[in-house]
Amino acid sequence: MYDLTVIIPTFREESTIGTIIAEVDAIFFRNAIRGEILVVDDNSPDRTIDIVRDLKNQKPNLNLVVRQQDHGLSQSVVEGFRQAQSDIFLVMDADLSHPPALIPVMLAEIRAGNDLVIGSRYMEGGGIKKWPLKRRILSMGATFLGRLLFPEIRDPVSGFFAVKKSVVEHAPLRPRGYKILLEVLGKGTWKKEKEIPFEFVDRAIGSSKLKGQTIIEYAGQVIDNARFSWNHHESVVWQEWMKLFKFGVVGLSGIIVNEGLLIYLKEYVHLSLWVSGIIAIELSILSNFIWNDLWTFKSDSRHALPHRWLRLLSFQVVSIGGAAINFVILNVLATQIGIDYRIADLLGILVAFAWNFWVNRRMTWKMGL
Ligand code: GDD
Ligand code: MN
Repeated sequence: MYDLTVIIPTFREESTIGTIIAEVDAIFFRNAIRGEILVVDDNSPDRTIDIVRDLKNQKPNLNLVVRQQDHGLSQSVVEGFRQAQSDIFLVMDADLSHPPALIPVMLAEIRAGNDLVIGSRYMEGGGIKKWPLKRRILSMGATFLGRLLFPEIRDPVSGFFAVKKSVVEHAPLRPRGYKILLEVLGKGTWKKEKEIPFEFVDRAIGSSKLKGQTIIEYAGQVIDNARFSWNHHESVVWQEWMKLFKFGVVGLSGIIVNEGLLIYLKEYVHLSLWVSGIIAIELSILSNFIWNDLWTFKSDSRHALPHRWLRLLSFQVVSIGGAAINFVILNVLATQIGIDYRIADLLGILVAFAWNFWVNRRMTWKMGL
């Protein structure tokens, strides 16, 4: 039994496959990792298969699967999941875009309790070398779509990641296209994930096999994963959207509290409009905080600011910021641009809502930090 299986999908990689196998094996040796290398090839017409077969004679930990049907990168990776002889899988490209030096780091992170470790281009320390502008724009679009599903994850479409077998073992994956990681994130069973920055180096030899059809496939995949979460409420995607929904419900309840208190204090307690207004606003912020703390972000208590009072303080400051945003947008749009003040206010509320949700989520309840 191996500690880890490095899965390398290949199609026409004769120029680099030998090098990547040697580099990965050297990393195994230097770090005392009992690792398997599993090349999953889609019946390449070039010398890829021959080269791997030759190397296999000297390396008992090298295995090769040659697929004949259902050609595709994601399908090949999933085939690798099935054939791998260990409980930890690491997927990487054959064209030297992904640094093998990170293999021990990713393995250590999995052993430290992460279900998934992602080699990330889009975080500090990460990056992309030698990509044409068109490719960069495409990748940014794909990443943005992916983040709609997984706002915590900076690079949900990376091709470089490690995952516990248990995450994908029973997952109803529908592999297609290039973005197998998105499928694993959307349908796998996982809780803890970690991203590690790396610098993607585009292939020096040959060209990317990414085609226009890949983009359409990807859009379909994003929709399919959203639909999947609709039917699987334990999924990470569903949990995330539920937070937004609950935050909205709490916000609406705050309006009722605010308005109710204002009427009560003014009409029955006979306080001035000023005083009634301030008390009503403050108590609705308090009420919103309590509901969000006990309900919306309940599951995230282990990440949150350590003290309820600290969270309240943070929530309070963010709420004031939100009110200021609402106020400024209302005034600028209504008086400077001349938009109907009722519509201007609605826009202000919307932006303030987004601000409140996003900043509280990251700061008050410290999600994704
Ligand atoms: N088995 C198999 N079948 N392997 C394939 C296929 C296929 O149809 N198409 C590509 N591969 C292999 C390549 O041989 C290479 O090892 C790896 O998959 C990546 O292929 P590239 O064509 O070099 O992809 P890329 O550089 O454009 O895309 C990389 O970055 C993307 C993120 O921007 C990959 O890492 C993608 O997975 C990643 O999403
Ligand atoms: Mn590549």
